[in-house]
Amino acid sequence: MLSHLALTCVSLLVTFAAVRWFIRDSYKLDGFSQKHVFITGCDSGFGNLLAKQLDRKGFKVIAACLSEKGAADLAAAASPRLKTLLLNVTDSAGIRSAVDFVSREVGERGLWGLVNNAGRGTPIGPTEWMQLEDFMTVLDVNLLGLIDVTLQFLPLLKKARGRVVNVASIAGRAAMAGGGYCLSKYGVEAFSDSLRLNMLPFGIKVSIIEPGYFKTNILYNDLIEANLKKLWAPLPQDVKDAYGATYIEDFLRMFDNSLGKLCSPDIAKVTRCMEHALTARHPRTRYGVGWDAKLFWIPLSYLPSFMTDFIFNSFTPLPKAGRKP
Ligand SMILES: NC(=O)c1ccc[n+]([C@@H]2O[C@H](COP(=O)([O-])OP(=O)(O)OC[C@H]3O[C@@H](n4cnc5c(N)ncnc54)[C@H](OP(=O)(O)O)[C@@H]3O)[C@@H](O)[C@H]2O)c1
Repeated sequence: MLSHLALTCVSLLVTFAAVRWFIRDSYKLDGFSQKHVFITGCDSGFGNLLAKQLDRKGFKVIAACLSEKGAADLAAAASPRLKTLLLNVTDSAGIRSAVDFVSREVGERGLWGLVNNAGRGTPIGPTEWMQLEDFMTVLDVNLLGLIDVTLQFLPLLKKARGRVVNVASIAGRAAMAGGGYCLSKYGVEAFSDSLRLNMLPFGIKVSIIEPGYFKTNILYNDLIEANLKKLWAPLPQDVKDAYGATYIEDFLRMFDNSLGKLCSPDIAKVTRCMEHALTARHPRTRYGVGWDAKLFWIPLSYLPSFMTDFIFNSFTPLPKAGRKP
């Protein structure tokens, strides 16, 4: 009798907390037409869709693209309100010029939103195949570039008591591949957490986006294959022998049959979370995006290492000279 009463009380409390959370989460700000948002990596994928989505909502979007073609295509697909500029996030002087441009655009209002989205995935592959430069190539864009952009834009964000939205990944929760990608995303998580704490007194809110697998250029099979072949070519013969001549083929086939099948084509799920982080009165700290992130990768990251090792090993082919652990 008593346990029945306790169970009912707990169920009511949980329901009340969930309803309260949903209501709080749905509160929106207004006045978007007066708010400027700066987004990096807008040539394709999430950044490109977000720029068009926020433009349609009336935001003043400043979209940074890596290529002239990317910028021209985006400008043609958006309203005249959307401005584009060229930016490679590894170029500190380029970031300074972008800050000057944005500063003139926003005036005394400051910058409402900074979305650090630019990123690259390759080189990715067995750690033993990598040189230090292979790690640097990815870390320079995904982590150090993101930090440099954030630091240089902070004064404009402080003026507006604005928002920072950093794109990490489920690869920042569970490291499953060699190369700089997982390292960079773990770094984005840590940088964002410390930034959020430090910026709280200044009214700046920081959110982290953690997408699962989505079909964008970053997961383009041909790109991954070309990069694996580039890593393979200079390897010493004994390392090649240890992996076997068909390792790359096996790796790509396994990728297609396992992770490839988890890829969602609905990238708007990601941009809706980015938009929530910019428009909600109470933005969330972390947005796990996609059913694979919510139900598989993030829960997986809490499992003991021997279990995650077993699961990740089942996604990758065994080197010819290796033994099943
Ligand atoms: N797709 C996924 O499953 C997934 C999952 C988790 C996290 N993410 C993250 O989501 C973000 C966006 O990726 P996406 O999936 O939308 O792939 P994407 O279509 O390849 O977008 C990445 C964008 O970043 C640009 N970029 C690359 N290097 C740059 C640099 N040095 N400076 C400035 N821009 C640069 C790319 O330009 P180019 O196209 O000209 O190279 C592209 O526009 C990345 O941070 C990625 O790590 C993606």
